[in-house]
Amino acid sequence: MEAKTKRASGRGLYAEGDKNPHEHDGTVHETNNPNGTKKLYIESYGCQMNFSDSEIVASVLAKEGYTTTQDAAEADLVLLNTCSIRDKAEQTVRNRLAHFNGHKKTNPDMKIGVLGCMAERVKGKLLEEEKLVDLVVGPDAYRDLPNLLEELDGGRKAVNVILSKEETYDDIEPVRLGGNGVSAFISITRGCDNMCTFCVVPFTRGRERSRNPQTIVDEALDLASQGYKEITLLGQNVDSYLWYGGGLKKDFDKASDLAKASAVHFADLMAMVAEAVPHMRIRFSTSNPQDMRDDVLETIAKYKNICNYIHLPVQSGSSRILELMNRGHNREEYFALIDRIRRIIPGCAISHDMIAGFPTETEEDHKETLSLMEYVQYDFGYMFFYSERPNTYAARKLEDDIPLEVKKRRLNEIIQLQNKHSLLRHEAMVGNTYEVLVEGTSKKREDQLFGRTDTNSVVVFDRHDFQPGDFVKVNIDRCTAATLIGTVVFE
Ligand code: SAH
Ligand code: F3S
Repeated sequence: MEAKTKRASGRGLYAEGDKNPHEHDGTVHETNNPNGTKKLYIESYGCQMNFSDSEIVASVLAKEGYTTTQDAAEADLVLLNTCSIRDKAEQTVRNRLAHFNGHKKTNPDMKIGVLGCMAERVKGKLLEEEKLVDLVVGPDAYRDLPNLLEELDGGRKAVNVILSKEETYDDIEPVRLGGNGVSAFISITRGCDNMCTFCVVPFTRGRERSRNPQTIVDEALDLASQGYKEITLLGQNVDSYLWYGGGLKKDFDKASDLAKASAVHFADLMAMVAEAVPHMRIRFSTSNPQDMRDDVLETIAKYKNICNYIHLPVQSGSSRILELMNRGHNREEYFALIDRIRRIIPGCAISHDMIAGFPTETEEDHKETLSLMEYVQYDFGYMFFYSERPNTYAARKLEDDIPLEVKKRRLNEIIQLQNKHSLLRHEAMVGNTYEVLVEGTSKKREDQLFGRTDTNSVVVFDRHDFQPGDFVKVNIDRCTAATLIGTVVFE
């Protein structure tokens, strides 16, 4: 069981399994390339970064004559952009691969490929031992797809899982896939250097690198000109964004004084983007407590178009466990950061990721998690029980010693508490009026629309003549833990 609060929204990079179009549990992408002669079927799993990467892959393949289809059975090429973050994510993909292999009976020329984190982690095994795929491409090798496809045409299997220290795809114009035309992602960093002991990402996505800020601003301007109203700046740890002319982060100390003085940190980047597209909403994910500096908070407070919402994973409320996780901060430091957020950005919504049942976690540690949640009263949360990932420090050095039923019970207590806090936060919003960016038609009723507040709460209200992309003032009448229900205010 993996779980999260019952809300139809959220911007955690790895928030899985709910109905938000930005979170992916097998999202099928569609785009139009009228000139395409070959058919591509592409599905994304896991994080927002994977969705964003699928847009890069679609761009590379559009140039090779591919157009997307929603019908896998008729595809020339089936690609799964995969996630390795927890074991369950990998199992889902294996089941899907077996399913797609079934189509080969009627469509023997179909090729099947695995992209993303599982490509990196499982590599040749899928290809050779399990014979489930023809093509394996890691997250830094998408530019190589045309060559790899040629190898397939020659009857060979193809694989490229080389990780790069430089690749940011910054010159590739993503093909926006199937989104709502309102909200889009811009990747600002790739990889992660943090080495949290439970996490497979540093192994599957490689070293952290930041993208040239000018290309980020250009992409934002381009999205604005296409009518988009909101962008989310994406990275595993956006706070560690650093650009000083393309140098590696680890060499920054050795850089010249001039390079240091003109370096672009995350706060500078946010300000650049906020000023370039003043009528767009700007979101960002994910923030990391150990790297979040006060200049970031001050920049959020300063610019009206930067949303007052921070996804700030904590993983545990126990300082002992946080140290075992190598999170780089303790409980008290996290509280101090929360206090600074509340002071510098009053009314800012905060969400978390939490892991129940990390190795050696005692009932005392678990109670500290619950008490940390009571202190913060998070608006939203993404909650998981610990899943041991091969080759991580935790897998090598710590026994996965918490029984599954205990993990599940603790997770359940965390979820119950989060539901209570989400409801409290929403109840405090009833009676107030908020600006809502309309994203689409409500899932339950055709005559209603849904959108989000600046603080990322989902609001449902009567359609009137509004369209996705409109900013609408809505007075909140009532709520659940997941949704605000309101009435449009006409001025
Ligand atoms: N920095 C990333 C975090 C990536 S992983 C980000 O931008 O979101 C997303 C979340 O999955 C983590 O915050 C953690 O709560 C959860 N997670 C990661 N590895 C896990 C594991 N081995 N078991 C259970 N949950 C895990
Ligand atoms: Fe994973 Fe920690 Fe990086 S959770 S993605 S190693 S910040």
